[in-house]
Amino acid sequence: MTSGTASIPSIKPHGGRLINRELQDRERDEARAKARTLKQVPLDPTAVSDLELIAIGGFSPLTGFMGSSDYQRVVDDARLANGLVWSLPITLGVTREQAAEITEGREVALTDGGAPLALMRVDEVYGYDKRREAENVYRTTDEAHPGVARLYQQGEMLLAGEIRLIEHPASTRVFPEHQLPPARSRAAFAERGWRRIVAFQTRNPIHRAHEYIQKCALEVVDGLFVHPLVGETKGGDISAEVRMNSYLKLMSLYYPAGRTLLGVFPAAMRYAGPREAIFHAIVRKNYGCTHFIVGRDHAGVGDYYGTYDAQRIFDDFAPEDLEITPLFFEHTFYCTLCGGMASAKTCPHGAEHHVTLSGTQVREMLSKGEIPPVEFTRPEVAKLLADEMKGVA
Ligand code: ADX
Repeated sequence: MTSGTASIPSIKPHGGRLINRELQDRERDEARAKARTLKQVPLDPTAVSDLELIAIGGFSPLTGFMGSSDYQRVVDDARLANGLVWSLPITLGVTREQAAEITEGREVALTDGGAPLALMRVDEVYGYDKRREAENVYRTTDEAHPGVARLYQQGEMLLAGEIRLIEHPASTRVFPEHQLPPARSRAAFAERGWRRIVAFQTRNPIHRAHEYIQKCALEVVDGLFVHPLVGETKGGDISAEVRMNSYLKLMSLYYPAGRTLLGVFPAAMRYAGPREAIFHAIVRKNYGCTHFIVGRDHAGVGDYYGTYDAQRIFDDFAPEDLEITPLFFEHTFYCTLCGGMASAKTCPHGAEHHVTLSGTQVREMLSKGEIPPVEFTRPEVAKLLADEMKGVA
């Protein structure tokens, strides 16, 4: 549907301005030389992803790792100190020993595997309450939750300050042809004449349910931005490489090239369910998307969240505070009587006619050499997953 979209201006970044913290040319060379002389602060994979996203503007309006006033308000109210909605803390944890060697007001070098990635002027070094963060952000203090486990492992002190990026982290420079930082995705949408763009977050292969909700959404907007997360995920999730191969295969066979774009999202997963759904939506607004898909148990793990909690949380915010429009989908499945994909909203038949499989069931089938049914996964994707399993076995 393209009519009626001509007068819609492209969506503003969160907070109004797209941030860019990448150093260029001489400034970059000088920063690289300076970094060698500074105190080195190694980053974990999540902080590496956060650094990249701050630098490229994915986390606009953030210009660095959060200070205590932003952190506290984010944890308590899902807002920055200035009231702007922001639902996940973006923090840099260090040990007490490291913190003791860092002076507020001084610059440090942020490193990954020994390589300096960025300079940060440390505005603040502060302590925080991990249990409170776990309760408010993850809605659980259970260490078995992968996001909570990472929080508990994180250093006891947080460093805050604006960053200036010297080098893009190697781990975020994967799939170079599909690197579309916000400035480029916005340009790509404009080139295609898309005004209404729906973003799809995923950390999984695209199964029939994913494809169905993407295409339902695409029926009412101009373009689909498939935006798989390729940063750190928990053990057991399918590797980004295999997933990317499966997306490319599917898109070449079943998606209209002029209506679909694939870009990598260099973020790490937090598995924070509802809070992460808000965060995922806001960040996709920075990439220039006007709509965001939220299906069943978005960004969930185990049974920590109710199936639709990640949709309900949107009621806590005024639409003008988010600006990006969430598109909610019920749990979808293939119904053998309907002869197509459906949900409880559109299908009158009993569960015995529905083909649904959990991620665990799919993994079990694949590890036994069984191929998931065509009603669940397209054969081309099933084959890639099966080959990966054989490689692993
Ligand atoms: S997520 O952690 O990135 O949310 P996943 O890749 O499984 O996980 O899901 C991507 C998106 O598809 C999410 O919005 C999720 O809610 C939605 N989704 C996944 N499976 C289904 C399904 N069977 N029915 C409806 N929505 C689904």
